[in-house]
Amino acid sequence: MNKGPLLEVKNLKTHFQTERGKVTAVNGVNLSVNKGEIIGIVGESGCGKSVVAQSILRLLDHTDSVEYEGEVLFENQDLLSLPLSKLRTIRGDKISIIFQDPLSSLNPVYTIGNQIEETLRLHQKQSKKEAHKKAIEILRATGIPSPEMRVNEYPHQLSGGMQQRAMIAMALSCEPKLLIADEPTTALDVTIQAQILELIVELNQKFGMGVLFITHDLGVVSEICTSVKVMYLGQIVEETTTERLFQTPLHPYTQGLIKSIPQLEKNRHEKLHVIEGTVPSLSNIPRGCSFSTRCPFADQQCLNEEPVMEMVHPEHSVKCWHYAEINNMERGSRGGESNNE
Ligand SMILES: Nc1ncnc2c1ncn2[C@@H]1O[C@H](COP(=O)(O)OP(=O)(O)OP(=O)(O)O)[C@@H](O)[C@H]1O
Ligand SMILES: [Mg+2]
Repeated sequence: MNKGPLLEVKNLKTHFQTERGKVTAVNGVNLSVNKGEIIGIVGESGCGKSVVAQSILRLLDHTDSVEYEGEVLFENQDLLSLPLSKLRTIRGDKISIIFQDPLSSLNPVYTIGNQIEETLRLHQKQSKKEAHKKAIEILRATGIPSPEMRVNEYPHQLSGGMQQRAMIAMALSCEPKLLIADEPTTALDVTIQAQILELIVELNQKFGMGVLFITHDLGVVSEICTSVKVMYLGQIVEETTTERLFQTPLHPYTQGLIKSIPQLEKNRHEKLHVIEGTVPSLSNIPRGCSFSTRCPFADQQCLNEEPVMEMVHPEHSVKCWHYAEINNMERGSRGGESNNE
């Protein structure tokens, strides 16, 4: 029926009105998620990853200081201009979202089972008995031990890891077409993290569920993502397939992120690389390239002019004036006008 991408975000901008004036937390983000794809968004704390996720589902609407621009197309509808009542029927049904903090989505006064059953009954019109059975099945799939017992417990009776899995069970129970995952496994220990990632990949492969996976962990990206967007100060600065990102990262920021992944075997005694400096505040965004204040290669042009996103390869784009010189390569198809030293 609908041949295009599941989700298409076009030139999304999210502004907040703050005491210090208007700030732009997301500044012109374009991305799409096709059926069966897992798209990763990576970047340091504060670069706008969560605001992208929340803007897609307009979870910030309660803050009256928020203002969106652009389009978020899902099944040919622009979620940004949809009446909130209509958007609510899509949230938790066709699109699910999971967060780092499970208690933000679990209701403390209902049992885990009640909450999953409620979703199933609402969105899939199942009977009470069917829904109860399915709730146990889903809890089992997320690796919760003794799901027959846990289904009758309240969120506070579960450990943090189990709460996380219960939230994921709830999000996946309606078999969403699209899952937005905002650092859902960051607080979990590695074995549970691996189980949850496996479950997400399984649903992705079995049902073609599209996933937008937000993380600051490049290790997780390399394990599950089809392709990756690297974000810095509200903008995507590099985007490509996961394979290319690790093999030929072109943006100095991406290179810094990759160099700062701890190596288990090699270089164990070497000091970990850190990207120098700190992320500027949103009320003080550099004029030219947003990374220029921390970039070892920045020159006058970088300080004054904002680079354009340049396609270097059909599957690889980068927003940097000097990626070609830095990486000893020919320039891509667009741009190439600059001849600054
Ligand atoms: N309601 C709000 N009002 C004003 N500024 C906000 C609001 N929500 C987020 N921001 C700002 O938007 C920027 C991006 O925040 P966001 O939470 O998206 O970062 P993030 O990439 O998810 O970071 P982390 O990895 O720490 O989760 C930050 O500078 C943050 O202070
Ligand atoms: Mg976040």
